[in-house]
Amino acid sequence: MSNLFALNDANCRSLVEAHDTPCFAYSGAIATEQFASLRQVLSPRVRLAYAVKANPHPGLLERFASLGASFDCASIGELERVEALGLPTGRTFFAGPGKREAELRKALAMGVRVQAEGFEDLARIDALVDRETAVNLRVHPAFEIDEGNRIIGGSGPSAFGVDEEDVPALLRKAPSLRHVRIRGLHVFAASNQRDASKLLAIHGAVLALAKRLHETHGLTFEQIDLGGGLGIPYGPDQSPLDVKALGLGLTELLAGHSWFTGELILEPGRFLAGPCGLYLARVVRLKESRGTRFAILEGGINHLIRPLLTGEPFPVKAVGKGEGSVPYTLAGPLCTSLDRLGDVRLPELAAGDLLAFGSTGAYGLNEGMTHFLSHPVPPEIWVG
Ligand SMILES: Cc1ncc(COP(=O)(O)O)c(C=O)c1O
Repeated sequence: MSNLFALNDANCRSLVEAHDTPCFAYSGAIATEQFASLRQVLSPRVRLAYAVKANPHPGLLERFASLGASFDCASIGELERVEALGLPTGRTFFAGPGKREAELRKALAMGVRVQAEGFEDLARIDALVDRETAVNLRVHPAFEIDEGNRIIGGSGPSAFGVDEEDVPALLRKAPSLRHVRIRGLHVFAASNQRDASKLLAIHGAVLALAKRLHETHGLTFEQIDLGGGLGIPYGPDQSPLDVKALGLGLTELLAGHSWFTGELILEPGRFLAGPCGLYLARVVRLKESRGTRFAILEGGINHLIRPLLTGEPFPVKAVGKGEGSVPYTLAGPLCTSLDRLGDVRLPELAAGDLLAFGSTGAYGLNEGMTHFLSHPVPPEIWVG
């Protein structure tokens, strides 16, 4: 929990004096620390591609770019944000189950490596290019996955990738492609996983799958993309991911797969961006209703929807008030009983108190659904 509130009480107060509430603040120093803590335990054969969907704030993108990150994009909006960084080609990837033609065109024009989700994706890319184009194939594995939660979807039916059992049929059709060549594998099967051994079990199974595809179908992989899913603690009883164990495990996996001479890719979003973010909001009023003490805040699920989606609150403290054990239900200002940020224990609160929510650097403001993944906001058309 050490860095959850690295922007301490004094800094929170001066941020609020300068910017008013509610607001989000991101610490570049913590983002740097988080990136370095992971980079330093990874083999040089592991590429770190920041998943822009976690938080596309330009400050974060610039910071990670300066530290040598590659980027995983999932929409034209994210591609444009990464394009603005002026990176050399080879440092950007484009994934997503529903890529529109304009998005594919944009990615291909930028020289981005596309993660194809099935034969239709391969064929659509083939029709858009006039020279040999390497892509990665996203596979939805058949092996049992202990994902941690259901955000990515476990091993049941999935909108992502081609089902592993359908890969042979896809490969039989692949020779009809004029320019597109499968040169990489992409499997992403975990979410917010803080247990390095569980992540490594999935990664080991992915390398075994790659080996089967190599041996049975002669596929050669320049890259094997293991996706994101590296977890962070959201509560005092949760331990952080042992990145050293993860790094060592990946090095061992590489050593055990000498047939594979390419690079591994990790695409963490939450791990890199989560800890650097704070959300600051004031208590507007307090209310006791039938035994429940509500603290009603000036922001709610319009700013932080994750507690509603996962049932897990962000860590929160009352700035300048120390620890406390009074139970509060945190409610937002929206006129819906869904507008809850969690049931928490805090010191006795008063109207005007400032609350600081930690670990909100990933899937915070941008997880509000019209913002999520920087997709364009649809116009509203008045037909009078
Ligand atoms: C393809 C892909 N890569 C990376 C990520 C980032 O995951 P995380 O933030 O859990 O590391 C996601 C998240 O949904 C994803 O879909």
